Amino acid sequence: MSRVDLRHSASVVSNTRICTDHYRLVLQEDRLSSITLPGQFVNIRIHNREDLILRRPFSVALVKPEKSLFEIVYRVVGKGTSAMTDLQPDDVVDLLGPLGKGFRIPEKAANCLLLGGGCGVAPLWGVADKLYRTNSTMVVMLGFQSSATVFGEDVFRAYGADTFITTDDGSYGLKGFVSEHLEKAMDRQIDRAYVCGPTPMIKAVAPILKKANVACEISMEAYMGCGFGVCLSCVVSVRNGEAIEKQRVCVEGPVFRLEDMVLDHET
Ligand SMILES: Cc1cc2nc3c(=O)[nH]c(=O)nc-3n(C[C@H](O)[C@H](O)[C@H](O)COP(=O)(O)OP(=O)(O)OC[C@H]3O[C@@H](n4cnc5c(N)ncnc54)[C@H](O)[C@@H]3O)c2cc1C
Ligand code: FES
Repeated sequence: MSRVDLRHSASVVSNTRICTDHYRLVLQEDRLSSITLPGQFVNIRIHNREDLILRRPFSVALVKPEKSLFEIVYRVVGKGTSAMTDLQPDDVVDLLGPLGKGFRIPEKAANCLLLGGGCGVAPLWGVADKLYRTNSTMVVMLGFQSSATVFGEDVFRAYGADTFITTDDGSYGLKGFVSEHLEKAMDRQIDRAYVCGPTPMIKAVAPILKKANVACEISMEAYMGCGFGVCLSCVVSVRNGEAIEKQRVCVEGPVFRLEDMVLDHET
């Protein structure tokens, strides 16, 4: 697909605050909503901010092709995401996508574990949507800082997932990190795991998932320049047989097999 094919103009349907620091942006565009896979991302040009030259990458949370809709959940952290909170219905967003490789969904029913943290919760909505259609069972564990930052639980429950929330301060759900409660979930039969969250969370759950020998995919974040493979600002270390090579999160990722990733503590 050329860059011309990747460029889209999507109209804003709604842009709603869903917790203290996250917004849910619903966009309408035919093609993206029909071809984007869970775990793929889009690169958004920030409207009315010519000074913000670099596009901002966001995972696609959920697609509804029958209505030409797709959703992004973003956390307000800096200039670009602050400007995005001004988006109003019918505004037009310029974006590139879908970019990168998404999660692999089994064709047949499987017992699946979904682990999410912070803004990494939203891309798992799309995974849950696909797994639901394969009659898979789902155990979902989501980690947040406190009750004020919890979102998305209802979406997983609507797909019939057994859903657990952890908060660092114990103000909602189980107290502590997802990794501290993960062993209990591993008592069940788990065939596949999907992880999307901050790097410290990925590093904490990785040894537990590896010990249980579960086929696992993780979505990695990296600071990005171009978003389509040219600038090499997003490389991570990945095993290829005996060798360790650099791969681009924006092209070969953002989703990788856990067994292939070289996480810091392994180098
Ligand atoms: C593949 C991918 C998927 C992502 N999906 C989501 C998502 O679904 N929801 C969400 O809230 N955030 C997501 N992020 C992080 C998001 O891109 C940044 O939070 C956002 O770019 C910050 O922009 P800013 O202008 O508000 O912040 P600033 O700090 O002002 O940004 C300055 C520069 O740093 C870059 N940057 C800052 N933080 C990050 C980061 N964590 N990762 C990559 N680049 C960063 C910005 O793109 C920008 O170029 C994703 C990042 C990647 C790489
Ligand atoms: S962001 Fe430029 S190569 Fe990945």
